[in-house]
Parts: sequence; C-alpha cells; structure tokens
Amino acid sequence: MKVDLLQMVEAGGCSSKISPGQLDEFLKYLPIPEHPDILIGIDTHDDAGVYRVSDELALVFTTDFFPPVCSDPYEFGQIAAANSISDVYAMGGTPVIALNIMMFPASRLPLEACAEILKGGAETAAKAGVMIIGGHTIDDFPPKYGLAVVGYIHPQKIISNSGARPGDILILTKPVGTGVILAGQKMKMSSDEDTDLAKKVMKTLNSSGAEVMKKYKVKGATDVTGYGLAGHALKMARASNVTIELDLGKVPLIGDTLNLVEEGCIPGASFRNLEFVENDSHLTKDLTYNLKMIAMDAQTSGGLLMCVPPEESENVLSELHNVGLVQSAVIGKVTEKKEKYLYLNN
Ligand code: CO
Ligand code: CO
Repeated sequence: MKVDLLQMVEAGGCSSKISPGQLDEFLKYLPIPEHPDILIGIDTHDDAGVYRVSDELALVFTTDFFPPVCSDPYEFGQIAAANSISDVYAMGGTPVIALNIMMFPASRLPLEACAEILKGGAETAAKAGVMIIGGHTIDDFPPKYGLAVVGYIHPQKIISNSGARPGDILILTKPVGTGVILAGQKMKMSSDEDTDLAKKVMKTLNSSGAEVMKKYKVKGATDVTGYGLAGHALKMARASNVTIELDLGKVPLIGDTLNLVEEGCIPGASFRNLEFVENDSHLTKDLTYNLKMIAMDAQTSGGLLMCVPPEESENVLSELHNVGLVQSAVIGKVTEKKEKYLYLNN
C-alpha cells in the first residue's frame, strides 16, 4: 500500500497552527511564572523558553509538531524535525537532545509509515547533532509529528525577539512560499519542480544560518513559520518596541510562488495572519495585493529572520551565501518606533 499522507489533511505543517489572534486570547488566562532564572518566558512570544542553570549555562526548551506537509512519511519526518529544532537555532542555542511527539492512526495506516516518519525525524536530528532519547505516541487521526528539543546556551548570548535595535538591517536566510506551494499541491496547481524545491527548503536545517548569526553576535532574530513573515516581524517589533520596515519586493521566493498567488492560490492561514497584523501595520498605497499576501504566507520550517548591525550586514550576507544559503537577502530594516510597528512596502 502506497501511503499518501497529504490526502489526510486539510492544512498541514505550520499552516495548521491556531491563529495568532486566538493564541493571544487564551494566553491571557495562563499564569505567567516569574523566577529570576527564567531568562525567556511566554511574554515576548519567543521561539523557545530559556532557563538559567548556572552563570555559564542555560537550557533552551521548545516543542513543535504538526500534520503532514507532504505525501511521503520519511520526508514528513525530516521536515518536522528540522522545523522543531529550528526554534533552538533561532535563540542562538546548540540543540542536544529531543523527544518524539507522535500522533498516528494505527488502524488506518500501516505501521511502517509510522516507522518511516520516526526514521526521517531521527536522521535529521542526527544531522543537527541531536539525540532522540524518548518520546510519546498517541493513536490519533490525522497523523501529527514533531519534537520537544532541549539545547544549551550561554546566558549572556541569547538571541531573542526583543533584541532588534533601530538601524539594524533585516536579513532572511530562506526563500518564502511553502504555504502557497503546499496549497497549490493540494489543488494540483503547483508544478513538481516547485513542490520539490519547497521540500528541499523545509528539510534544510537552520544550523548554518545560526552559526553565522552567532559569529557576528546578532542579538535579535526569530524563525519564520506559521504566522508568516509579517506575523513574526510584528512579534519581534512589539517585543523590541521598534518599527520594522519590510521591502516585500526583495523577499526571495521559492520557484513560481508569485504566479501561484496571482492565480489565486492563497491558503486560509494567510487571511488569519493578515487579520492579526492589520491593526499594527501600515501598508504603502502602491503595495500590490500579491506581495502583501506573500508576507502573510504561513511557512513551515522557514528561514531565520535576523537583525544585523548595519556595519556587519554585507559580511553576514556574503557568509550566508558562502555556507550555501544562496537565496539569503536583505529584506528591510529596523527603525525607532513610529506610529505603527510594521511598514509593508513594495
Ligand atoms: Co519559531
Ligand atoms: Co515553534
């Protein structure tokens, strides 16, 4: 039996996150623990929590899991693992151990498919130097998979959402378009080439981008996932109390993403993300609808969005290109807080 995981889901990957607006709604009811050793908690909406163990060592702790983004179980495992581990990289941490989180419909799918997902996850984790030392499995439909990951970081070297400073240049390390291409794949609109490109992007670990970021002592960064470029930029602008200007025409794209949007291939998550950012955003008059919706596109295992001091931006960009992140690009800048947190330009 040839398993096609994609047939089992409405919206896979990070598109299936609860909308950011709803998340804010119920986070209000959550008691926020306060402790001097909690260096990064819930309040700044960072990629991971950080807990200080000693003056030299803090733990970075995160989890992500989601329904399938592709048909093949092994590739789904690879992508889900790369996505889960990314949140440790986005904080400047070194991932070390992880637990599998698996929901699998044992009566509807052959167990080999479950094994393939786990195998894909374990191999990508191994590439990141991460050992999977346990996990938890639930019988559930549709399947979902991801990791809870622990990493190390020096308490003085945390990279966070609140580290953006006026004058910083914004660099994105991976092209955008996974949400559009995945939706297009379900509607038989995406070409096989674009689907393959998107899968390659999603499987790419953010490890080499994070190494460059650490070398140049970047202070502010996040990874771009379910809330899209605009949603994650807004979270960073709020946490840092700055304004972020995005030049959307400069955003690198995967394959034919722009044409797919032109043909109407815009997933539902994009509209939720637009709703979330609208009030805090200024859209320039000539901003095209297509570019606007690309800024809202939910990414699965997207790139790092980093705030680089202007004097270092050229070096950082050329190093990113050298380590193989060839579509890395400058896509905007950070300014003092203006009327709105986010300015979206062509
Ligand atoms: Co993240
Ligand atoms: Co995450």
